[in-house]
Amino acid sequence: MDIQSIDEVQRLLAAEDYVCDRALGTVAFLSLRLGRPLFLEGEAGTGKTEIAKALAAALGRRLIRLQCYEGLGAAEAVAEWNFAAQMVEIRAAEGRGGAARSDLFSEEFLIERPLLAAMRPQPGGAPVLLIDEVDRTDEPFEAFLLEALSDFQVTIPELGTIRAPEPPIVVLTSNRTREVHDALKRRCIYHWVDYPAFDREMAILRARVPEAAETLSREVVAFVQQLRTEDLFKRPGVAETIDWAKCLLALDVVALSPEVISDTLGAILKYQDDIQRIEGEAAARVLEEARVRAGNG
Ligand SMILES: Nc1ncnc2c1ncn2[C@@H]1O[C@H](COP(=O)(O)OP(=O)(O)O)[C@@H](O)[C@H]1O
Ligand SMILES: [Mg+2]
Repeated sequence: MDIQSIDEVQRLLAAEDYVCDRALGTVAFLSLRLGRPLFLEGEAGTGKTEIAKALAAALGRRLIRLQCYEGLGAAEAVAEWNFAAQMVEIRAAEGRGGAARSDLFSEEFLIERPLLAAMRPQPGGAPVLLIDEVDRTDEPFEAFLLEALSDFQVTIPELGTIRAPEPPIVVLTSNRTREVHDALKRRCIYHWVDYPAFDREMAILRARVPEAAETLSREVVAFVQQLRTEDLFKRPGVAETIDWAKCLLALDVVALSPEVISDTLGAILKYQDDIQRIEGEAAARVLEEARVRAGNG
């Protein structure tokens, strides 16, 4: 890996409109340098998935994403046999009155899934493998992942072991809906991705919604930051800040008011209980507190 410094990582990501603080830049640099998977844990909407995308784009690598879900098994993650094509082949052989081909379990009949794809050489160099929301899978799958990531190889019973000539750059994310096993985390360089502080969230908004005026952006960020201190079922992430700013722009809003906030809460809060709690009076109070906090109240 030809990345020389943490600064360079931050610069490369900034060119992809990804705002990366020093701590995240450091673990990303180390992960690239040492060839160790990067394990990012944190609340939803804090930029964990996005960094894998930005990294792939910045390095000119292919991004391969394995979206995890409950019940995800090794077959769905690595490769599956194309039974339909195999059946067609068998029928055709029957039609010819001959024996079916003996190579029905060859690569030709294999449907490649993300983990196998990530072990293949790619034109621009080893791909970025994003194993997204690993907390949604179960322990047997984690154990399987641990093995695949230990030697960067996967085994297909009928075919044998396929080993990556150059290990992929691996990013795992977890929204921490449950604890991921120590053994898997120990393989990786771990980092907790927190909500950004005011200045960094402003920088993200500038990068992602450059058309928003500075004054409106400051109000939006201050309000969301204040909102995160409220007792909510689900606090808004950076994704929500960005969405909200775009909504306000679409409505030609130039400054926040309790009414505007109440009308557009659905962009930042996704649970009816949370919306009910903040609508009306609470919106006015949080806005007031946000303005004091931002020093322009
Ligand atoms: N540091 C950041 N720099 C730029 N954009 C960011 C950053 N963090 C979050 N975002 C924005 O927030 C959105 C949600 O981030 P995402 O990576 O999907 O969150 P997570 O995977 O942590 O739930 C992204 O699409 C991106 O636009
Ligand atoms: Mg994500």
